[in-house]
Amino acid sequence: TGHITLDLGYKNTGSTKSAITFLDGEEGILKYRGYPIEELAEKASFLEVAYLLIYGALPSDQELENFQNTISKHTLIHEDMKKFFDGFPSKSHPMAQLGSLVFSLATFYPESFKQNQTYEELNLTIIKLLAKLPTIVAFIYKKSLGHPLIYPKNKYDYVTNYLWMTFGQRTEDYEVNPKIVSAMNKLLILHADHEQNCSTSTVRIVGSSDCNLYASVSAGIAALWGPLHGGANQAVIEMLERIKEDGGDTDKWIAKAKDKNDPFRMMGFGHRVYKNFDPRAKIIKKACDDILESLGINDPVLAIAKRLEEAALTDPYFIERKLYPNVDFYSGIIYRALGFPSEFFTVLFALGRLPGWIAQWKEMKENKEPIGRPRQVYTGEVNKTMSK
Ligand code: CMC
Repeated sequence: TGHITLDLGYKNTGSTKSAITFLDGEEGILKYRGYPIEELAEKASFLEVAYLLIYGALPSDQELENFQNTISKHTLIHEDMKKFFDGFPSKSHPMAQLGSLVFSLATFYPESFKQNQTYEELNLTIIKLLAKLPTIVAFIYKKSLGHPLIYPKNKYDYVTNYLWMTFGQRTEDYEVNPKIVSAMNKLLILHADHEQNCSTSTVRIVGSSDCNLYASVSAGIAALWGPLHGGANQAVIEMLERIKEDGGDTDKWIAKAKDKNDPFRMMGFGHRVYKNFDPRAKIIKKACDDILESLGINDPVLAIAKRLEEAALTDPYFIERKLYPNVDFYSGIIYRALGFPSEFFTVLFALGRLPGWIAQWKEMKENKEPIGRPRQVYTGEVNKTMSK
């Protein structure tokens, strides 16, 4: 095995060539197809960004309208899918439900695994997945409350429609608050792609066996669930709550995070690639202040989060290891302000990451990448015989 290079966690190994997302960890730069994340978060809609990631260029007005209209035709899910909810235990985690439901789409649309598909056939699967995910996510939420389901309203844009299906019964004449639409748009854009992170690499590697898009994306959802990846957003808010209930002594919790005998980690801190700051965290911190102010919400954990950030950024442990707040540090505070329970945060991350997963899966196929099949360095026994 001498010729095999071992790189645990792929810290220095490129797994693919990609023209989708540019990331400079030293400088804190993130760009989708060449456009800075700051500009997209400010000026684009989530659907435009999805189009940009998947098809490689920003859509013209006409292209965007066609894209929106095509998606609108597929927003319903098969009525039989509702039966799954009766089978899941009533308090099951939304991520477990999401992964199962997305996987099950392949049972309803077997054309997704037909061999030698045309571009149009393949694209239809992409459209269906984009169209159905918000409906699935909203239905999971409604079911968790025991409320009746709200069906898509296709006159709404992608994000408004999702929020309508989620919060539509709040009042008799409920209308989606444009401030919430704009906050959600921004959050989804910031999560839309992040080159070869754990879930995206999973989607690509599963897809590289020529597996269909639904199955590949459900594998990505599984990878995202872990608290070291997308699950961090739920873990952050739970950590902030614990710190608050414990009296708000941030120094004590910083000491715990530094203690190598204590398994506690500062959730929402650190990143494999960003070593100066996470540009998404900068945007989200600002958005968090703006959104809470405009909705008139005073969340005491926001003050704790800010104190924690300040104290950590001046502590040698965090400085030496280049640990900064990442995208998940403030996102949960916004989700909570919008009315989502913490168990639901990672599902929202998945909703945002979907265009990235799709774009990366499509690129992998178009580039005809070989099946992903890493090697290993064997450390076990080699010469054993059975005694009988
Ligand atoms: N709290 C305390 N110490 C930390 C933390 C943290 N959050 N993150 C890293 N360290 C320490 C770690 O103990 C190690 O110290 P030492 O060199 O003394 O052994 C050093 O920093 C390097 O850490 P690592 O675990 O080798 O770094 P990694 O690149 O393998 O892990 C990470 C990156 C994001 C998994 C990790 O920083 C972490 O667990 N952070 C908390 C979870 C989190 O917020 N995840 C979200 C990531 S961003 C969004 C996403 O991908 O979904």
